[in-house]
Amino acid sequence: MTNSIAKLDFDGKTHEFKVIQGTVGPEVIDIAALYKDTGAFTYDPGFTSTAACESKITFIDGDAGVLLHRGYPIEQLAEHGDFLEVCYLLLYGELPTKSQKEDFDYRVTRHTMVHEQMSRFFTGFRRDAHPMAVMCGVVGALSAFYHDSTDISDPYQRMIASMRLIAKMPTIAAMAFKYHIGQPFVYPKNELSYAANFLHMCFAVPCEEYKVNPVLARAMDRIFILHADHEQNASTSTVRLAGSSGANPFACIAAGIACLWGPAHGGANEAALNMLGEIGSVDRIPEFIDRAKDKNDPFRLMGFGHRVYKNYDPRAKIMQKTTHEVLGELGIKDDPLLDVAMELERIALTDDYFIEKKLYPNIDFYSGITLKALGFPTTMFTVLFALARTVGWIAQWKEMIEDPQQRIGRPRQLYTGAPERDYVPIAKR
Ligand code: CMC
Repeated sequence: MTNSIAKLDFDGKTHEFKVIQGTVGPEVIDIAALYKDTGAFTYDPGFTSTAACESKITFIDGDAGVLLHRGYPIEQLAEHGDFLEVCYLLLYGELPTKSQKEDFDYRVTRHTMVHEQMSRFFTGFRRDAHPMAVMCGVVGALSAFYHDSTDISDPYQRMIASMRLIAKMPTIAAMAFKYHIGQPFVYPKNELSYAANFLHMCFAVPCEEYKVNPVLARAMDRIFILHADHEQNASTSTVRLAGSSGANPFACIAAGIACLWGPAHGGANEAALNMLGEIGSVDRIPEFIDRAKDKNDPFRLMGFGHRVYKNYDPRAKIMQKTTHEVLGELGIKDDPLLDVAMELERIALTDDYFIEKKLYPNIDFYSGITLKALGFPTTMFTVLFALARTVGWIAQWKEMIEDPQQRIGRPRQLYTGAPERDYVPIAKR
């Protein structure tokens, strides 16, 4: 909906731009014609003021600490929904009816196995490879195994590719884990729920019976829900940009995984737990708080701060509850890392530096403790994030491909390099 006009005085002329109002959230000045009209670009490194696309999937109000998927608050989805229901919602825009849900669950469940030859693909990696390195490679390789779902102009192939990615990601993630720890791969068990099946593939071994603890399966499912989508973050924008060239969805998701790996993004859960371990005890917290505030020290409190949330990350609150549920179920009463985390959170929330900069705990602050208690090594944390975020990436990719206005993404630049100059032969340099 167009509400008003924004005026820009530039180079002696006044230019007018439409101001567009979304359903909720800030108004957006449509500057698509800026270059054509003025010959100038906008400059916004880090995209702090740029809406790169129109989307109907996820809304975040960072000041209020609100996260909505298709309009539904994350708290309600995490409390009442399950992960596959959230997947359906993100992909199709509405909560499924009972029969739609059964059909969706059935379809996802029937794609859980990976091509048998893929298991041999894993053995090409060094045993000590980081599982995220393995994920980047293996997910990218899906396009070499599933040629029949790489034509993005065919809606049926797009749908099958989406199902395959959502269904196979837990299998691939569990295989990366098993390869990492030197255990045999465990095939999916389709009678189990999505989360329970994943725990089974990770923790079962062929020599004994493994029963999935329903409380832990529920916690795993909730962790997946909390990570399912998060608007136009770095990895999602990467998926959209990769997809805008017409690249196949498996390649696009591999690009998203590569971007997610960084410690400023999905890698923060691993970094947060490592940091809690490094702090080690409550009495060392002030030393680390001082380091985080010191401009000359690159150290940051991992799991704190967010580009969009300038309030408590709503996912962190649910994650904190889930952490206590998991530790309670496992009978872990005195976890030194949890003690450090709770005290660190308390101090940071009352410290002027963190208050002024609006640095609150984000989802990664508590997810690491929970995943560790569930039995995952830190190297797997970002893999689990990638598994859960796959549906968000797919939903955003699908939305972009189905948009008739879609064009290749091609940002411009402020060039500050050398102007044109003549080549100097090597003997004269
Ligand atoms: N510890 C100490 N100081 C911080 C922190 C932190 N964790 N985060 C930001 N600051 C300071 C920063 O030094 C800067 O101070 P100044 O204005 O004096 O230069 C100010 O706060 C703003 O920081 P910024 O880097 O300009 O903010 P950003 O929006 O570019 O970065 C962030 C956001 C998440 C990368 C950053 O807060 C950070 O590095 N946090 C730690 C890593 C982390 O937990 N990442 C997970 C994000 S949530 C999950 C996900 O999206 O993947």
